[in-house]
Amino acid sequence: MAELSRGNFGSKLGVILATAGSAVGLGNIWRFPYMAGQNGGAVFIIIYLACVLILGIPCMVSEFIIGRHGASNTARAYSKLANGTAWKVVGYMEVLTGYLITGYYAVVSGWCCNYIYASIAGELKGDPTYVSQYFENFCSDPVRPVFWTVVIFLITHFVIVHGVRNGIEKASKWMMPTLFILLLVIVVAANLLPGSSKGVEFLLKPDFTKVDKDVFLGAVGQCFYSLSIAMGCLCTYASYFSRRTNIVNSAVQISLIDTLVAILAGLVIFPAAFSVGISPDSGPKLIFITLPNVFNEAFASIPWLGWLVSLMFYALLSLAALTSLMSLHEVNTAFFYEELHISRKKGAWIVTVSCGIIGAICSLSLSKHSGLVFFGKSLFDIFDFVTGQIFLPITGLLMCLFVGWYVPKNIVKDEFTNWGTLKGTFYGFYLFSVRFICPLLILAIFLHQFNVI
Ligand code: PFF
Repeated sequence: MAELSRGNFGSKLGVILATAGSAVGLGNIWRFPYMAGQNGGAVFIIIYLACVLILGIPCMVSEFIIGRHGASNTARAYSKLANGTAWKVVGYMEVLTGYLITGYYAVVSGWCCNYIYASIAGELKGDPTYVSQYFENFCSDPVRPVFWTVVIFLITHFVIVHGVRNGIEKASKWMMPTLFILLLVIVVAANLLPGSSKGVEFLLKPDFTKVDKDVFLGAVGQCFYSLSIAMGCLCTYASYFSRRTNIVNSAVQISLIDTLVAILAGLVIFPAAFSVGISPDSGPKLIFITLPNVFNEAFASIPWLGWLVSLMFYALLSLAALTSLMSLHEVNTAFFYEELHISRKKGAWIVTVSCGIIGAICSLSLSKHSGLVFFGKSLFDIFDFVTGQIFLPITGLLMCLFVGWYVPKNIVKDEFTNWGTLKGTFYGFYLFSVRFICPLLILAIFLHQFNVI
């Protein structure tokens, strides 16, 4: 039976680094800093931390409970607890969400790889119009983005076929520390620039006047995406945890790492941008247009340093994207190989090829005249919208209701306390949150994005 040959993580550090690798991704770098800067600085960070505490960690713990109890892919883990009821659909929804995200997340990850190459080749040097044109041309090129999507998929595939311990865990153990060191070096470089302190002030200065309902719901949404909740990643990784893994402590540590990386990313972007008087944007524009300009200007007098910082930044971004992509790939690989009773290798190939095709089509939809535009949106944007705005909140909401109200409480408590060997001090708080607070907050972000509230 496939279940008998399942892998597992070999160490506590492996658990933390691999799962933090899933959480730390493009969301930390292209969205968090901008949201913090625009929405009250330190106040936003405090609100965000509160969201992590009352929503993020309880949701993460819930997924860990389902995953470790199931010791199988996400769909089957839900089915085991659902006892033949319709609740098992939630597991399939998580896998489907992860599947749909994999393709387009790989496209953006591929862009990051291209920018490593472009930094090395000096292709990003030029005035702002040139840099912006470079990005436009690159995205709408029918070949190059697809090429890089294939490259990043093959790297991910290579890691995944080596299994949980020799693939994911080993790779995360060097990728995550490398990512951290790169980030620290770039933080120092950015903060040594003249005038950079204004950027730090912009990011960290508390401004209570900016806080309103939108800021609060923005923080909730960001926390959900950044911690990789409701896409099967956390559940799948937890299925490789040992019975000794302390689920609550792990969730706290992973969330802290994720938040720290997001704040450090802000300490790169704002100081560097403010030092040259460019106002930072968010999303792809920030990463692929604004920042190359910032690097060009900030290091105009020492071009080799600009070259190095740019290279390090895109290497950092690619690593962050890669570790997230690995977790998305693993959700689907585990699903295929366990449900279709095929080898892990075959399962991984099904994912690489099919998601590669989805990624290629998404990428092609960005080129002008591709014909892949529906209702005025490219296929790429449609995937982003459907997964992020519709699937994610609905699946997250159902996941909380499932664990909070349906799953027998002795199972939840046993997993929470490692069968009574841990104190479980926060169990009461956790249960209250997952039953009431999380569903209400998720419902609020869902309705808010359609302007219902
Ligand atoms: N958490 C990742 C980020 O912040 O970029 C994105 C992500 C990865 C979301 C994996 C979901 C997921 F399953």
